[in-house]
Order: sequence, then C-alpha cells, then structure tokens
Amino acid sequence: MFTIHPMNVNGEHQAWLADFLTQQWGSPMIGSGDKLIDASLCPGFAAVRDADMFGDAPVIGVATIHITGKDCEILTLNSLEENTGIGTALIDAARDAARNARCKRLFLKTTNDNTRALRFYQRRGFVIAAVRVNAIEAVRKRKPQIPLKGIDGIPIRDEIELEMSL
Ligand SMILES: CC(C)(COP(=O)(O)OP(=O)(O)OC[C@H]1O[C@@H](n2cnc3c(N)ncnc32)[C@H](O)[C@@H]1OP(=O)(O)O)[C@@H](O)C(=O)NCCC(=O)NCCS
Repeated sequence: MFTIHPMNVNGEHQAWLADFLTQQWGSPMIGSGDKLIDASLCPGFAAVRDADMFGDAPVIGVATIHITGKDCEILTLNSLEENTGIGTALIDAARDAARNARCKRLFLKTTNDNTRALRFYQRRGFVIAAVRVNAIEAVRKRKPQIPLKGIDGIPIRDEIELEMSL
C-alpha cells in the first residue's frame, strides 16, 4: 500500500523533483500552451510506500499540476508500479486540489503514441477536448529531448488534450 503526500511546499522537494522529472521526461521543463513550464517548481503529489518516510523513501509515483484561473493542468503523471492504483490516487489528489482552488476544469495533454494513457484517462472520466495534429514538431524544437518514436515504436506526432469539468 501507499500514501499520497503533497509536494513542494516551500520548494523543499524541488531538487529531488527536478531529478525525477528529468529521468521520466528528459527535463523538468514541460510544454504547457505555447510555453515550457518548470514542473519542479509546481505543486504536486508523491505516492510513497507505506511505512516509509518521505525524503529518503522510495517514491513510487508523482503528479505535478499548474493552476491558472479556473483551469488546472496536470503537467506530469508517473506511476512507477503500474496497476496498483497509484495513477488513480494521484489523479484524485490533483482533482481535489483543483476543486479546493475553485477550478472548473482539470485537463492534461498526452501524445498520440500513449495509448495506455488515453485509455487510462478516458476510463476515469476525462474526454478528448482537442487533437493538435503534428503539434509535437514545434514542441520538439523547444525540447529536443522528446524522442522521434514513443511507445510501441509509434512516431510521436500529435498532441491530444483531455479534460474533465469540476
Ligand atoms: C498512465 C499511468 C499513469 C497509469 O498509472 P497506474 O498506476 O498504472 O494506474 P492505476 O493502477 O491506478 O490504474 C491502471 C489499471 O490498474 C488497475 N488497478 C488499479 N489498482 C489495482 C490493484 N490494486 N490491483 C490490480 N489492478 C489494479 C485499474 O483497474 C486500472 O485499469 P482500468 O483502467 O482498466 O481500470 C502509468 O501507466 C504511467 O505512469 N505511464 C507512464 C507515464 C505516462 O504515460 N503518464 C501519462 C502521460 S500524460
């Protein structure tokens, strides 16, 4: 079992988070709209195995969020032990935080190759709000760490936005 902990209160987790995001996404800089946002400076949540203390413990999942007005974006979501409920619990934490901040919309972007994520989010009530064909080419110019091919060798090409009303 695991527990969800808020992160980045006073920025104390920033170095650790920057490292984690670099391992998972090539860099802590995450595309949001037409900007790159440093997700290591954003609020987030960590899933930590029970009986461990956050800090020197194995973190087994992380979500980061970015709130602007009535919108809350899930910038990153990673589960290191899949199919044990971590991804769902992190989404629940993000949704609660968004509601507490009086947001009206929770949204995220993924890429066309990530069929597991597309399934995962739609099973949890998100709907496709936009498909931006070939958008990753422009994002890759700002973030060259994005590989040409992604999951199952599928070329990473399109950006798919999913949303949920709060
Ligand atoms: C997408 C992702 C976050 C899902 O995380 P996850 O921890 O596997 O998610 P969960 O365990 O909550 O749910 C996955 C499945 O496990 C099942 N599951 C959950 N708890 C379970 C348990 N205790 N025992 C068995 N199965 C379980 C769920 O039923 C779910 O399947 P469903 O969609 O058919 O209902 C994860 O695959 C991931 O990190 N992918 C790589 C990074 C990524 O692509 N992130 C999203 C980019 S936008």
